[in-house]
Order: sequence, then C-alpha cells, then structure tokens
Amino acid sequence: MLTANDFIPKVYSQTIESGSFQWSAPSNIALVKYWGKKDNQIPANPSVSFTLNNCKTITKLVFAKKEKQDIFSFDLLFEGKPKEDFKPKILKFLERIEIYLPFLKEYHFTIDTENTFPHSSGIASSASGMAALAMNLMSLEKALNPEMTEAYFYQKASLLARLGSGSACRSVKGQVVVWGNQANIEGSSDLYGVEFPNAIHDNFNNFQDTILLVDKGEKQVSSTVGHDLMHAHPYAERRFEQAHENLDKLNAIFESGNLDEFIKVVESEALTLHAMMMTSMPYFILMKPNTLQIINAIWKFRSATKIPVCFTLDAGANVHVLYPENVSEKVLQFIKDELVGFCQNGQYLCDEIGSGAIKLA
Ligand code: DP6
Repeated sequence: MLTANDFIPKVYSQTIESGSFQWSAPSNIALVKYWGKKDNQIPANPSVSFTLNNCKTITKLVFAKKEKQDIFSFDLLFEGKPKEDFKPKILKFLERIEIYLPFLKEYHFTIDTENTFPHSSGIASSASGMAALAMNLMSLEKALNPEMTEAYFYQKASLLARLGSGSACRSVKGQVVVWGNQANIEGSSDLYGVEFPNAIHDNFNNFQDTILLVDKGEKQVSSTVGHDLMHAHPYAERRFEQAHENLDKLNAIFESGNLDEFIKVVESEALTLHAMMMTSMPYFILMKPNTLQIINAIWKFRSATKIPVCFTLDAGANVHVLYPENVSEKVLQFIKDELVGFCQNGQYLCDEIGSGAIKLA
C-alpha cells in the first residue's frame, strides 16, 4: 500500500532550463458522490465516476528557470487573456503540492488554459482544469526523472490533481474511476483515483451523458463550503456508510449490466447528495424548478417507454442524462421534444464516456 510519502521525490537525475508541455483533461460525472472530506483532501467516503470525453480543459504549461527561487511565480491565461481571479486557487494548489514537486519555485510558469465547453455554462471546470495542470507538472517531473514508471506517473498525477480539487483525481486515466478506499476494489486509495479494476458489462460501452444546462448562474454555495458542512451534519456517518454500500452495489452492476439496478443506485445517489445539502445547517438548495421538471419528465418517459435512461446531478442545477448508446436516438429525440424547453437558452451538451487525459505536446 503506497503512502503519501512515497510520492515525495529524492534527487532528480536531469536538469532542464525551459520548455513547454500541453495536456487535455476531461471532466467526469460521479455516480457515487464525493461529499464530505477530511484534512488534506482525503474523502469522507469513496466515489466512482464516468470519465467524460468532450467536456475538457486544454492547458499549456510554459516553464523557464528563474534567478530568485524563494517564491512561486506564474502567469495565468484563460482563453489567451490574463485571468487574475483564477490565480489564488492556483497559488493554493502550488503551495499544497510543493512537498511533492520541490522544483516548483525554481521556475516561472505560464499556464495557458481553455475549456471546450462554453464559458460559464455552470459546468465545473475545476476537475478538468486541475487534472490538466497536474498532468503538465508531471510531464516536467518526468523530464527531471526519466526513470519514472508509467504507473507512478499516473498515480502521482491523480494525487496532485486531488490536492487541487477532490473530483479532479478522477479525471486522469480510465473510463470508470474509483477514488477512496473500498474493500473489494483492489488498489483503491484515498490518495488518488484508480481505474475501476473489475469487469464492466458491454451495456456500459460508450455510455452517453447529455448535460442539460438548467442554470448557468453562480452557485450560492461553493462545493468547498458544502463539503465542510458535512462535519457537523446529523446524517453524515450514515451517508458515508451508504456510499460504501452503493459502490459495492455498482461493483456488481458493472459486471451484470443490470441497468434497472444501475438507475436505482445512480438516481438515489444524486438525490441523496442534494438531500445532504438540504439537511445541512445552514441548509441550501441548488436545484431549480426546471431541475425537478426534468427529473419528472425523465421518470414519466422511462415508465412509458421502458427505455433505461436516468439522471444524475452535481453540486448545481444542471441535469446529466445518462443512457446506453443503443437508445441514444430515442433519448435525444425525447430531449429535443420535451426537455430542451427547461434548459437555459435551450442549451445542452452531448457527451459520452471517455478515457482520460491526453498529452498534446
Ligand atoms: C458534488 O471536487 O468540486 O461534484 O475537493 O472541494 O474541490 P473540492 O470539491 P469538488 O466536489 C465535487 C462534489 C460533487 C460530487 C463528485 O464529483 O463526486
């Protein structure tokens, strides 16, 4: 079992003056939700997600050795323009990961980043964004230490991404990713995400996720605050146990391909997440009236057609509509006919299962 100390490097065999890398990293959608954490971004319960394919962040990292090596130094560009308001989060990230990448203060970085999904669509870019940055930093470490194994590279990339944003550790590698210790899931760890190691039924091949953009406004309560409210939450302990139980159920469902059971677990997880928000103190609601309209329309459609389509939710009002590829034509027609009217400006994004971060340059 690896510990966090195993990711603190010793001496590097190479030196490197300057250069650049570029990676894309996708977003992911959790099926069993991460909600609640301990110190150092250790999750209160394990989670599992589908990696997405189309919603991603593309980040170029340019680096050059600098003279003064006592502070972090970086410029941040978003879609080619300086973006000051992202900088504090990046600085905090660099501070958290410095122990694992002791060379960070030796360089000046230019971080040039963009998303493939519309700006302010309400899609969290922290998972894809932190994962893409972590991949680039690992490319630099690999240049300093070419002996590094591929397994170490990806594990450490996920560990670093986790320190940027918990869910980001599930955006590194693999189609189905587990984060958090779980008996029966070999290799699972609180420190980083791992590719789901067990059998996955063909029913989940190219699984589809159509993201209905219900509300693009700023969230009233950030995920960070929401996680924190789980500390004094009256139902927290039972909820954390339930996440283990649901992950166990999904483990069996991935093997059997039982979509009815899949739907039960996934929709229950989504509603439980929001129930935790509603039963926090202070309490809050991130769903909007149209979120509920969509959920009810999906239930009605599913019961009338027996098509195995379901929903899940993130920490926001948008709805992720999940379904197998072989029903995509019918479900897309249903979305166009009956759900688009509940989306802000009729907007939705078609995505599907993907396999993780990609090195572009
Ligand atoms: C509801 O990963 O955004 O999407 O670790 O504080 O950055 P931080 O939180 P974040 O929380 C995501 C919560 C969620 C569920 C999930 O993705 O598992």
